[in-house]
Amino acid sequence: MKKILITGGAGFIGSHVIRRFVSKYPAYHIYNLDALTYAGNLENIADIEHLPNYTFVKGDITDADFIHQLFEKEQFDGIIHLAAESHVDRSITDPLAFVKTNVIGTMNLLNASRDCWKNDYQDKRFYHISTDEVYGALGDTGLFTETTPYSPNSPYSASKAASDHFVRAYGETYGLPYVITNCSNNYGPNHFPEKLIPLFIHNIIHQKPLPVYGDGNYTRDWLFVIDHAIAIDLVFHEGKNHETYNIGGFNEWKNIDLVRLLCQKMDEKLNRPKGTSEQLITFVKDRPGHDLRYAIDATKMNKELGWKPSVTFEEGLSLTIDWYLTHQEWLTHVTSGAYQQYYQKQYAEK
Ligand code: NAD
Ligand code: TYD
Repeated sequence: MKKILITGGAGFIGSHVIRRFVSKYPAYHIYNLDALTYAGNLENIADIEHLPNYTFVKGDITDADFIHQLFEKEQFDGIIHLAAESHVDRSITDPLAFVKTNVIGTMNLLNASRDCWKNDYQDKRFYHISTDEVYGALGDTGLFTETTPYSPNSPYSASKAASDHFVRAYGETYGLPYVITNCSNNYGPNHFPEKLIPLFIHNIIHQKPLPVYGDGNYTRDWLFVIDHAIAIDLVFHEGKNHETYNIGGFNEWKNIDLVRLLCQKMDEKLNRPKGTSEQLITFVKDRPGHDLRYAIDATKMNKELGWKPSVTFEEGLSLTIDWYLTHQEWLTHVTSGAYQQYYQKQYAEK
């Protein structure tokens, strides 16, 4: 039986990857390593945790000794590394936390893999999950390809870029068999309500203001999280070593247009009069260093691995809203306690 370590499996994307791997591959034993920070929640994977090929390990990737001991004990065959600090706004407030987890944490996993595999890399793989934000900001036209130079603008994207560089360097220097994917903005069930879509769904439910940064004319490419999990499965099994793949939804939206669509859909689903939620839109102080536009060219994923998104944005957004409306207890759990302090601090002065 192959032993696969997935880090960050209690978070948003990680939980969908864990569910897919544990249920689809009974011949793999899946280890979910997660520190359970504010963003990690075992409720996200409660439906699969009883399965015999799943083990949860609570631990911090910044703890080098712990990581080395875990690798020595379990002798993993593959790693899918998602654990990270992931929110740009938090990286502006506390950049060092992002260096610790995203750079040092990744380094610890790289060192442990190299030392544990001892240059015998047959059938081994280190898969690093990254973001399109490492490429910086686009103007009104153009797309990020796998050869676009890195130009990160936020402490979050700088920390992810640094970790990508180290992964690549371990491939070149030690021969570590790695693969990296850089994906656009995900949305879907289990998304922590600090990011645009789940935050605004939460605020619309509670009829709270919708804080749109700046003039709202910023553009993101959005991908349904399950389509990202499908892509990760494909790349883990069929991607080529020492390669990078860009993953995206072919689905660009200006924030303000997306927010208006969300308002319209929420009014319909909540049986509120048309236009109710739009009245909550409030333009607030802009994010410093706000990247104007991200857009991904996912042609390589399509041509080499036959991947393309399986749901339209309309379908994905509808599924997402339905999930939040039927999981309000989940929302209540994750928005109690420390979330309230975060929210006050982040939005009070805006
Ligand atoms: P998330 O914030 O929802 O989850 C992160 C998970 O990592 C949590 O479960 C948290 O407990 C865990 N974690 C954090 N610090 C840890 C540490 N020191 N040790 C062990 N576990 C720790 O993040 P997400 O949105 O699911 O993103 C997952 C990965 O995908 C990240 O690497 C992120 O950079 C990347 N990514 C995210 C998006 C997106 O739109 N969310 C897009 C592209 C790439
Ligand atoms: P976010 O979901 O934080 O993802 P990222 O910054 O990684 O793209 O933000 C998506 C876009 O929405 C981004 O342009 C910032 C904007 N935004 C707001 O306008 N208001 C908010 O409260 C948040 C969280 C984001």
